[in-house]
Amino acid sequence: MSREGTQEREEVELTVSDIILRDATAADWADVLALNQAHRPHVGALTPIGLRQLHEQAIYFRLAEATGTLVGFLIALDPLAEYGSLNFLWFKTRYERFVYIDRIAVVAAKRRCGIARHLYEDLERFAGARGFDLLTCEYNLRPPNDDSARFHGRLGFAEVGRQNTEQGQKTVSLQIKILHGSSGPVPSSTFPGGDSQPDAPSAK
Ligand SMILES: CC(C)(COP(=O)(O)OP(=O)(O)OC[C@H]1O[C@@H](n2cnc3c(N)ncnc32)[C@H](O)[C@@H]1OP(=O)(O)O)[C@@H](O)C(=O)NCCC(=O)NCCS
Repeated sequence: MSREGTQEREEVELTVSDIILRDATAADWADVLALNQAHRPHVGALTPIGLRQLHEQAIYFRLAEATGTLVGFLIALDPLAEYGSLNFLWFKTRYERFVYIDRIAVVAAKRRCGIARHLYEDLERFAGARGFDLLTCEYNLRPPNDDSARFHGRLGFAEVGRQNTEQGQKTVSLQIKILHGSSGPVPSSTFPGGDSQPDAPSAK
């Protein structure tokens, strides 16, 4: 078999049992930044300072590695985080207690191997063990992120709203998943009522 053929076979054969999840450290920031920036606009842009601040605020920041190489990461926050993202704030004004998935990215060559599912399942266990019964996140409708839409649909997320961000350049679908065994999310007392239409365009 040619070397190219061997490489293709190796990529196809990557399974979840080859993946190790671990907490991120400052030593990982450069690799995480590179992976993040390669996936704009599906994930928001990050600077080194922004990543450091996000790391300080995150309740969950784990990496997926295969043979010692970064293949994915997931960062999540709880409502106590000091974070100015409009999407995080959208959930914060509507729900009292939740885990907000700020971003996930998997390297292009390792997609559809179950890496993102593995990270989400790990996050669900992490959240459940801490008494959270709600996961929240968003994905882009404009520009479209069909991969993310299919992924989140497959994992049981559902849309609870939409809003425009980044001076109207993006429209996002705001998604939630109620964790197994929960009776449902607790709405914030300040929540004025559900909406499913885009809010007025506003800065992120
Ligand atoms: C979205 C993303 C994180 C999914 O990562 P992944 O590791 O490839 O996803 P998984 O292999 O765990 O997929 C789990 C299931 O989701 C669904 N799914 C995931 N990607 C899909 C795609 N491109 N098309 C159709 N279904 C898809 C499938 O049902 C899949 O199960 P299957 O492969 O057994 O059919 C990845 O495509 C990515 O990093 N995209 C760029 C960054 C990004 O968009 N992040 C999300 C921002 S909201």
